[in-house]
Amino acid sequence: MVFYVRQGNIPELRHIYDDRKNILKEELLGEDSFEGPYSLLYHRGEPTRIREIEIVKKDHVEGIESSQHRLFRTRRLTGTGDIITNRKILLGNDSVLITFSRIDRENDHFFRHGLRNMLFYVHRGGATFESIFGSITIKEGDYLLVPKGTTFRFKNPRGLALLAIESKDPIEIPGRYLNRYGQLKEGAPYHNRNITYPILDHTEKGKEEKGYAVYVDFDDHFVVELRDESPLDVAGWDGYNYPFTINVRHLMPMVGKVHLPPPFHETFSSKRFMVASFLPRPFDFHERSIPISYYHSNVDTDEFLFYSSGNFMSRRGIDEGSITLHVRGMIHGPQPGAVEESIGKQSTDEIGIMVETYDRLKVFPDGAGIEDEGYFRSWYK
Ligand SMILES: [Fe+2]
Repeated sequence: MVFYVRQGNIPELRHIYDDRKNILKEELLGEDSFEGPYSLLYHRGEPTRIREIEIVKKDHVEGIESSQHRLFRTRRLTGTGDIITNRKILLGNDSVLITFSRIDRENDHFFRHGLRNMLFYVHRGGATFESIFGSITIKEGDYLLVPKGTTFRFKNPRGLALLAIESKDPIEIPGRYLNRYGQLKEGAPYHNRNITYPILDHTEKGKEEKGYAVYVDFDDHFVVELRDESPLDVAGWDGYNYPFTINVRHLMPMVGKVHLPPPFHETFSSKRFMVASFLPRPFDFHERSIPISYYHSNVDTDEFLFYSSGNFMSRRGIDEGSITLHVRGMIHGPQPGAVEESIGKQSTDEIGIMVETYDRLKVFPDGAGIEDEGYFRSWYK
């Protein structure tokens, strides 16, 4: 994150104690060894105290590189569960996985990703995100960025449907949006005021007979930490590395005189991909503008687009929750007649989430299972 947050009780200085009889246990949680953004968390117990460890293997899944455009429908993912049992990998490559979860069950257990930063997008429903940093109420349209190493769970989920972009590399606010002090600039598509960080409103201490399980995700298996003390024992923390949300309603869409390409709609950046948000907005204002996108052949990227809500003018046969994958090497763009139909349209109410990847995206078995075959023929009408 780009600004400093402090919650709860922390010692006057780093790496000291305030109360000799009650020394808080300090944990640094940071990216890039000791060089990147970090927070210091002050536990009431010892964060390393683990009674037992279990290994839970996951089914081995592999993706297949795609050389044609594809269409997937997440409404076909009907099963529900929790973040541990029902997170389906749809697409991915070595640096990023794109998953979808329907969550209707409260996690008894905690979750932590050992390898990946997780950028969730709340497609439907809501819940309380409860973590070692405190809690955030999440709702439809929220991006929720969870740094790797964060222990959390979803409490009281209500019809929660989550898209997630899971990255080994940091997922960051694009540098060009920040001034030299790290503040979001005037003219950036969102601002510090609308970023919500966790509130640490309670801390737990003491042993519970049934214990606590933390599922630590290592991609092909979980390490399950069995603890006798709650992981939510943080009395205070401060720093720059913490989960936060921003809602798409608070993003400022960019509007041009003529059509603007996806980088203008960028919301988050990473080394091997970027995330863009297509938002309700007036269309381009040149008197002869063609509001819909032109055909394009971006030969160095694959384009993932999740259609969250609204009317998607450029694509027929797309419904809410659909995903298109437009691959490098093949031209894509508006479907037949869509250019002509778009002329004179004043605005769009669409909300779409794009992930543009610099490495080829592979289709995983759970993605292939919800595919609409023959999508490439949608341009042949
Ligand atoms: Fe595109």
